[in-house]
Amino acid sequence: MKSLESLKVVLEHIIQTNYDGLCVIAGDGRIAQINDRFASVLGRTQVELIGQNIEDTCLAQAFQQVIMSSQKAAVSIQGNASGEPVDIALVPMLLDDILAGVVAYVDCDAIVQELTESLKVAQQKAVYLEQKLRIDQETRWHPDRYIGETLEQKLVRTLKPGSAFDAFIGLSPKVLEALAMAGKAAQAQSTVLICGKSGTGKELIAAGIHKASPRCHGPFIKLNCAAIPATLLESELFGHEKGAFTGAIKKKLGKFELADQGTIFLDEIGEMDLSMQSKLLRVLQDCTFERVGAEGSIKVNVRVVAATNRNVEQMVKTGQFRDDLYYRLSVIPIHLPPLNERKEDIPLLVDYFLKYFNQQLGKQIKGISQAAMDALVHYEWPGNVRELKNIIERVAVLTDEIYIELCDLPSCFHHAKSCDSEEVKIYGSIVREKIFPLEQYEKQIIKAALEKHGSYTAAAKALGITHKTVAAKAQKYGLMDWINRWTLF
Ligand SMILES: Nc1ncnc2c1ncn2[C@@H]1O[C@H](COP(=O)(O)OP(=O)(O)OP(=O)(O)O)[C@@H](O)[C@H]1O
Ligand SMILES: [Mg+2]
Repeated sequence: MKSLESLKVVLEHIIQTNYDGLCVIAGDGRIAQINDRFASVLGRTQVELIGQNIEDTCLAQAFQQVIMSSQKAAVSIQGNASGEPVDIALVPMLLDDILAGVVAYVDCDAIVQELTESLKVAQQKAVYLEQKLRIDQETRWHPDRYIGETLEQKLVRTLKPGSAFDAFIGLSPKVLEALAMAGKAAQAQSTVLICGKSGTGKELIAAGIHKASPRCHGPFIKLNCAAIPATLLESELFGHEKGAFTGAIKKKLGKFELADQGTIFLDEIGEMDLSMQSKLLRVLQDCTFERVGAEGSIKVNVRVVAATNRNVEQMVKTGQFRDDLYYRLSVIPIHLPPLNERKEDIPLLVDYFLKYFNQQLGKQIKGISQAAMDALVHYEWPGNVRELKNIIERVAVLTDEIYIELCDLPSCFHHAKSCDSEEVKIYGSIVREKIFPLEQYEKQIIKAALEKHGSYTAAAKALGITHKTVAAKAQKYGLMDWINRWTLF
């Protein structure tokens, strides 16, 4: 009897201390035991409920179901404390197959499942917030983080610039970095030096910088330093007075004066000779210069953007370029990567140029085969984007098809191997039955080099002669138009 008493105490203790809600109902429906948690689900106290009939609560129906079927029943009730639905399970207590009562308990499976779901969502949110915080820390300005940061680093840490650079296609990391620099440079007054091989889009970037700058309503004046003989460069840049030298029949404004309140773009700055370099340095230092043959000096408000496809840093070391001018020019350096270092941009560029030439030529080309695209991607592109643009134009002009196939591309794309040999290429371009005067070959060669490379310097490099010789030959054969012939912007 004593052990029965102590068993009752133990049972009561278990019921009361159980974290889960528990309720023991006698076979006649009377509540024999109930713990706090269960009582609170029913919205009453333990004391109120002990001895009460379960039929007077919201569990009446479920209780009846268990009595009738001797099977477990489940019901969802409105939890009084939280207002949330609470799942209750009611299990029959059978003694020798006779129903002695019912145990009701809060079914935690559903709660656990719900909690697990919320935990999963919370974890995902935490991961997202952690990543966001990391990206924010890496990309946003924060006083501690950026102390000691260089101007260059500061500029890179910016957003992609707006529409002024829309014509510059590319999404590779190197391009985005260059565009971010250019976008920030546009907002500053400092001199910009754009470096990159021929055809990488230096002029596009220079034009974009002007367009995105507060000077966009002022003039954008271009000067190709390589295209002008050294003796004429000074008067091109600074102008001259009437009679300043033989041939100066009237006064002429220089590019610096024309660019007042705007931007001057000095292309191929690496070709400028040392004496002109020191004159340019003076303009960069105090914005003043004299027209050739004039007495007084002129002050202008001009922003200088320069470009070069030469390694000016190396030229500084060998004494071909003034170091002080180099440092002045490259306050904000922008490096444009060659196309073969950003092959992921080739499909984007192909797509862009196809659409562009469709519009220009009234064509309806819809796309390009995978094999043709693969060939374009694998090509080395010594002439960079200019060469790619030329090829797409050529193909667009020549094809009558809707889709461009590998066979529509120039032969070196589908016979990659046979094209590897320089000898084969040169041999193929000469018709052996008839030999023409040497000058005609020379003209064709110079034209082909200019067409492919677009600048005197690059063409000269490919031909193994000086840019001056190329410029002179281009003049002789009337090929001046082939410089940047493909520049459409
Ligand atoms: N990223 C680009 N997106 C679209 N077009 C481009 C891009 N880069 C270059 N081009 C096009 O390629 C041609 C050559 O570009 P650009 O004249 O700007 O090159 P460059 O670097 O100045 O070459 P060079 O050193 O020979 O003067 C232009 O027709 C230009 O529109
Ligand atoms: Mg250029």
